[in-house]
Amino acid sequence: MPDTLTKFAYQTFQQGKQAFGYTHKTLINRLREIVSPVEPGRTDNVPASIFALLKQRMDDLTDVDWQDADAGIYPKDLLFDNPWDDFFKYYPMVVFDTPSVWERSKQERYQDFGPDVNTAGYPSYYVQNFHHQTDGYLSAMSANLYDLQVELLFNGSADPMRRRILAPLKRHIDGLGVPVPKVLDVACGTGRTLKMLRDTIAQASLYGVDLSPTYLRKANELLSKDIGALPQLIQANAEALPYVDNYFEASVSVFLFHELPAAVRQTVINECYRVTKPKGVFIVCDSIQKLDTPEFAPMMENFPTVFHEPYYRHYSTDDITGRLESAGFHSVEVSNHFMSKYWVAKKG
Ligand SMILES: C[S@@+](CC[C@H](N)C(=O)[O-])C[C@H]1O[C@@H](n2cnc3c(N)ncnc32)[C@H](O)[C@@H]1O
Repeated sequence: MPDTLTKFAYQTFQQGKQAFGYTHKTLINRLREIVSPVEPGRTDNVPASIFALLKQRMDDLTDVDWQDADAGIYPKDLLFDNPWDDFFKYYPMVVFDTPSVWERSKQERYQDFGPDVNTAGYPSYYVQNFHHQTDGYLSAMSANLYDLQVELLFNGSADPMRRRILAPLKRHIDGLGVPVPKVLDVACGTGRTLKMLRDTIAQASLYGVDLSPTYLRKANELLSKDIGALPQLIQANAEALPYVDNYFEASVSVFLFHELPAAVRQTVINECYRVTKPKGVFIVCDSIQKLDTPEFAPMMENFPTVFHEPYYRHYSTDDITGRLESAGFHSVEVSNHFMSKYWVAKKG
């Protein structure tokens, strides 16, 4: 397909996802007002002007995503990569599960797990219904719905936000000139970032850790669908990574730090420093923070209340650059795209 056509197809695809996400949320919120209304005053009002800014930011993200693919940093196919099977299979379940999410939220039940879910042995900060999600991160159903829920939350921009780590990572790996670089994804969840990494840095040996066995199973399912070496997936706590010192050319982490208490955030950063080789890089993608876009402050105030994110408020003003430097990283570069923030930190 000629480039202009591919670009147009990608823009249309993203606009379709935006429209779907927006319509889904509007309808679900209308239904909630009827079935299970939220007490007035629980959330701040978000001024209408914010929506125009959000739309602009989303379009900017689509542009930069296109530019990176067009420059050959990652294949253009990645732009259209969407788990369609899961969408058709699990979208009805997302809708049917929504009333139980409302109930949990209304009754402030934050550690509510089904009888089949074994919560033993996990850190207490983790045994939570993050996002009021049924079974937290600890069931097959949660793993099946997660990607779809995140895509709906971000109006189809979750993968484009994840892809923002690829250009600095590839640049760094290319600069090292190591034939088979080892790259670790810390809290790899259902494996979407690992899939992008495999398509972008084909020569790399990939590793993923996560605390959730069901999310790792889902990651394995996703990564087995296409041809390519399977990343090594291990169930482990990022506070004690099961690797020797100085093992990886690069480590990355996507959407983890806002879900960790402050002290654990530092421990995980220290661990990422330990397992990354000198001259290696650590790249973090997570939510934007309060000072990045003060206009988004009301939205960021509402987010932890509406979505049960108990550590988000602290995260939203935390000095992550300071934490990276105190672990030993240097030359930390920071950037923002849409609703996310990136730290690229060097070791040695
Ligand atoms: C918001 S999800 C992000 C998942 C994935 N990186 C993504 O981009 O969708 C947070 C992930 O962190 C994992 N997690 C949370 N605390 C962890 C810890 N201490 N060690 C390892 N994984 C953890 C969860 O199981 C979950 O998969």
